[in-house]
Amino acid sequence: MKSKKLQRRLALFVAIAIVLSLFVAVTLILAMSGCQKADAQHLSALPASPAPGDDQEPAAADLINLGESQIQWVALTDAVCPGVASMAASAKSPSPAKKIKAKCHLVNPLISNPGRIAFTFDDGPGRHTERLLDALKSFNVRVTFFVQGRAAERYPHLIQRMQEEGHQVANHTYSHVFLTKADPLIREQQLLETSDIIENLTGSRPTIMRPPGGHRGEEVYAEAGRQGMATVLWDIDTADWVYKDAGYVYDFLLRRARAGKIFLMHDIHPTTVDGFIQALPLLLDHGFVPVTVDELIQLQPGDVYPAFWRR
Ligand code: NI
Repeated sequence: MKSKKLQRRLALFVAIAIVLSLFVAVTLILAMSGCQKADAQHLSALPASPAPGDDQEPAAADLINLGESQIQWVALTDAVCPGVASMAASAKSPSPAKKIKAKCHLVNPLISNPGRIAFTFDDGPGRHTERLLDALKSFNVRVTFFVQGRAAERYPHLIQRMQEEGHQVANHTYSHVFLTKADPLIREQQLLETSDIIENLTGSRPTIMRPPGGHRGEEVYAEAGRQGMATVLWDIDTADWVYKDAGYVYDFLLRRARAGKIFLMHDIHPTTVDGFIQALPLLLDHGFVPVTVDELIQLQPGDVYPAFWRR
């Protein structure tokens, strides 16, 4: 009697164990298929447009809107910068993306396609420009500075030094005015005054200008053309002004450096200067040859470069 009772209990126990295992297995299968479905929905919901001019951009890029301007989109993917895409996704709104402090330190630099490359620095000169010039001189490297007229008045010796050391000095308006929103007379004066200041310091007028904030249009291109300048934007925005992190700038340059491209940076940020100085010897070691914009591309007054900005 007793053993039969024991057998029945054992059978019941085994049956319960089987049912429980089946339940766990079914739950796991359902959960996994749910994840795949969510991933598929997530990917299909992502915008397909790549960063301006960057044909290397992965298709499924996580994009965050960094401001009012249509050009202030930065593609951030876990492939490009591990961890940053998820940070960006969680910071979409309402918190301003500008506050994201991105850290993505590189294990293996993914340098590819070395060759001539144009590094450009906007908004200066400033307190950190001298340090940048020292580093450029020590590596015998030339870049392009899009300077503000008012900053040139404050640091005239740095403008002269840029010229003496072979850098290209270009026009970024007198006081960083958004030219599409400005009165035509202001637009003319902002550019004219800055070119006058540069000419007084260097002996030659700038042949290229970059509109502040990338605010561009036919009226801007035409005014630049009337003043003997082409409009030069950029191929790749490092977003250095968003992250203000030397490690970010360093990683970005090593991962995204490509021959023939114009990179946008700002020498008014110490983090940009630090990150660039750290990345520079590695980029040189890997065969990149920094050149000025006029060495990279021949432009005529009124031209717009890169051309895709005019579309
Ligand atoms: Ni600017």
